[in-house]
Amino acid sequence: MTKIKVCMVGCGNIGADLCIALQKGNIPAEIVALVDQDVERARVLVRTFQLEAKVCTLAEAVEDCDFIVECASAAAVEPVLRAAIDHHRDCLIMSVGGLMGHMELYEEAKQRNIQVRIPSGALCGLDGIRAAMEAGLHSVTLTTRKPPKGLVGAPYLTDNNIDLNGLTEAKIIFEGNALEAVKAFPANVNVAGALSLVGIGPKETRVVVIADPNATENSHEVYAEGAFGRLKTMTSNLPSPRNAKSSYLASLSAAAELRAAAVAYTSHYAET
Ligand SMILES: NC(=O)c1ccc[n+]([C@@H]2O[C@H](COP(=O)([O-])OP(=O)(O)OC[C@H]3O[C@@H](n4cnc5c(N)ncnc54)[C@H](O)[C@@H]3O)[C@@H](O)[C@H]2O)c1
Repeated sequence: MTKIKVCMVGCGNIGADLCIALQKGNIPAEIVALVDQDVERARVLVRTFQLEAKVCTLAEAVEDCDFIVECASAAAVEPVLRAAIDHHRDCLIMSVGGLMGHMELYEEAKQRNIQVRIPSGALCGLDGIRAAMEAGLHSVTLTTRKPPKGLVGAPYLTDNNIDLNGLTEAKIIFEGNALEAVKAFPANVNVAGALSLVGIGPKETRVVVIADPNATENSHEVYAEGAFGRLKTMTSNLPSPRNAKSSYLASLSAAAELRAAAVAYTSHYAET
């Protein structure tokens, strides 16, 4: 079986979940290079999954791969996009919030026919938003509800001295547009980025973040109105089996995107 050669940037929770997905053997892809600012995390994946992959820098990794997966952090997005553009590689960007700060590189990649895949993440309903855009949308709102511990460390909380300890009932802690939301909660609302890129854009997409001490799951509700009518979707996410702070569906969406990229690439390869 022809396999797409993957360089993975970021060897944490989503990286490990992708290794598990690839271990099943039904995605025509193999990891050939691993990049992480903490080299030991990359080595752990090599040992755990018995990968025949080298642990190296992004510059070295990109030479040997067909496809780059970014599942690291907002800071990793710019170098990954630059490497994708310079070496003409398609890529998957998981840190969609980080992508919002580099829209010029995203546009440059598209102009050069490089596919930058954006996952649906822990959200459903993007198919309807995409279709509705054909006739135009008037408004799109994402309401994200999380237990307070899932929001710990967010810059918005620290910058505004917001202490969620002792919260006894659900509280709206943020309202703004998607661009503001991904800066305020870079690790929590990547889905706002995906929703706004498919829909009416980062400045027009409204985001509400609720800290709810009674919530046991991370949930995302999308409400949109447009020429088509109205839609409302609700996704209640169980945590990833290996990381309580991350939604399992986010990792599954990464695997689904990698599968789609690999199938498209290997079909093209078979034709030529
Ligand atoms: N699109 C979505 O819906 C969605 C959902 C969940 C997480 N995410 C994002 O995906 C990314 C990975 O999530 P995770 O749960 O696997 O995180 P994680 O913290 O478990 O793992 C991240 C790994 O990347 C490494 N890393 C961080 N910055 C780096 C850099 N600049 N260069 C190289 N390595 C770097 C870290 O050392 C770590 O090993 C995060 O940015 C997160 O916000 C997106």
